[in-house]
Amino acid sequence: MPELGVNIDHVATVRQARRTNEPDPVWAAALAELGGADAITIHLREDRRHIQDRDLTILKETVAAKLNLEMACDAEVVDVACRVRPQQATLVPERREEVTTEGGLDILGRQDRVREVIDRLQHSGIVVSLFLDPDLAQIETAADLGADAVELHTGQFALAAVGRDQEDQLKILRRTGAKVLACGMALHAGHGLTYRNVKQVAAIEGMHELNIGHSIIARAIMVGLTEAVREMKRLVSG
Ligand code: PXP
Repeated sequence: MPELGVNIDHVATVRQARRTNEPDPVWAAALAELGGADAITIHLREDRRHIQDRDLTILKETVAAKLNLEMACDAEVVDVACRVRPQQATLVPERREEVTTEGGLDILGRQDRVREVIDRLQHSGIVVSLFLDPDLAQIETAADLGADAVELHTGQFALAAVGRDQEDQLKILRRTGAKVLACGMALHAGHGLTYRNVKQVAAIEGMHELNIGHSIIARAIMVGLTEAVREMKRLVSG
């Protein structure tokens, strides 16, 4: 049964809209855990547009579940991660102009830098996952670089029209998921997953962790965060 990682960046986005102290992502993490979250996921972006260093530091102390830090291969953020030591880091690409993470991390052309970041994080006791497009060459390279896990980018699946297109994308996720496992890494997935499409991805053989943000926080506005997480957890658990 896959674990559910709840991404609470949007809670910080609302707070930063007024540069005030509410809503607090620390409260959100506690409510998500009450709803059954197995992990709390936050993205500390270079521009600190939502999650702040203070959030990371406090969440490291207060989250009872796993804390998963999404981050770019940026020297300053790597220093912060090695100091705070979340249980897991997920390396993602980052562009200042993007609204959300757009594609997987392209590791083929920058293996030395990615290897260096993986080594530093692992030496600090952090499990390292790479957020990759479902592409066999990227996955093989992740294994060569010593990654512990791969989070497959499910954005294309989420965007595909229900029916044939979606089924094709699901096949790609299944094939590349099998490759992740064959390479000895843990299989994660995320991006664009919703209450409507999550079951098919959760059912992929060997799926270990799903990271979901937007859809859960959108529902939380209507029903409360604990209930929104509980509903998603039920779907993920099959
Ligand atoms: N996984 C990664 C690596 C992400 O960057 C994001 C978006 O922050 C997510 C999962 C969650 O995506 P969504 O908000 O579409 O559920």
